[in-house]
Amino acid sequence: MNGKLADKVAIITGGARGIGAAVARRYAGEGARVVVADRLLDEAKSVAAALGHGAFAVALDVTDPQSIAAMAAEVISQAGQIDILVNGAAVFDLAPITDITRESYHKVFRVNVEGLIFTLQAVARQMIAQGKGGKIVNFASQAGRRGEALVAIYCASKAAVISFTQSAGLALIKHRINVNAIAPGVVDTPMWDEVDALFAKYENLPLGEKKRQVGAAVPYGRMGRPEDLTGMAVFLASDDAEYIVAQTYNVDGGNWMS
Ligand SMILES: NC(=O)c1ccc[n+]([C@@H]2O[C@H](COP(=O)([O-])OP(=O)(O)OC[C@H]3O[C@@H](n4cnc5c(N)ncnc54)[C@H](O)[C@@H]3O)[C@@H](O)[C@H]2O)c1
Repeated sequence: MNGKLADKVAIITGGARGIGAAVARRYAGEGARVVVADRLLDEAKSVAAALGHGAFAVALDVTDPQSIAAMAAEVISQAGQIDILVNGAAVFDLAPITDITRESYHKVFRVNVEGLIFTLQAVARQMIAQGKGGKIVNFASQAGRRGEALVAIYCASKAAVISFTQSAGLALIKHRINVNAIAPGVVDTPMWDEVDALFAKYENLPLGEKKRQVGAAVPYGRMGRPEDLTGMAVFLASDDAEYIVAQTYNVDGGNWMS
């Protein structure tokens, strides 16, 4: 099989929907054997079934250590190795600072931070044991670059992803495991349908209005589409990114400069 990721085994967490599903399709097109890992197993199976190249779905809840261990064991049993991990699984919430609850904090941090850290740890252990290096791509966000009045917890969780990408990148490069991240801007996915509904509630907007506003504000002229993120995701998982370590790249139509 030809392609930039030919014969690589790539796990994509959050691969059942949105950006993760688009990355899954693109990776398969580049010759990877894709593992669609998500808590939505039926949707993950549908995505995997359409990919070919031996793609398969595995149930994964990144908040559950046993689920992470079982997922990694299942991938080794079915595919024999892990070459690439994309950490896409995440959840969103928003509330004014004075109304934030511990439940909301735990919901967001358990998936976006704890889940990402310990999924990465499990896969890094496997990659180190294999002794052939690997590529890890974390999904951060423009929300990790600056705070937003209503989005404090999600922003903090994505700032943590950028920081953890730096530390893990520095720690693992001696094993030839490259850890980098992508910071999308605003991308039209099921997550943004939730975001839009929450802004509608807190800013008293009609449904769809927040999406329209953020899309109009993007220098490129529209919201991102999941496919807009896939070029960077392929690049960071490919041999071309061998010398790239601990970085977070903005893919956001010009929203953020750093
Ligand atoms: N959509 C955007 O505008 C945007 C912007 C910046 C960053 N991001 C980030 O990009 C990534 C993908 O976002 P998206 O918009 O495609 O989201 P999405 O909500 O459309 O898809 C997220 C996927 O993660 C899965 N997931 C959630 N919790 C999980 C858990 N505990 N275990 C396993 N899987 C779980 C969901 O089932 C879903 O399939 C996320 O990390 C998100 O934070 C998105």
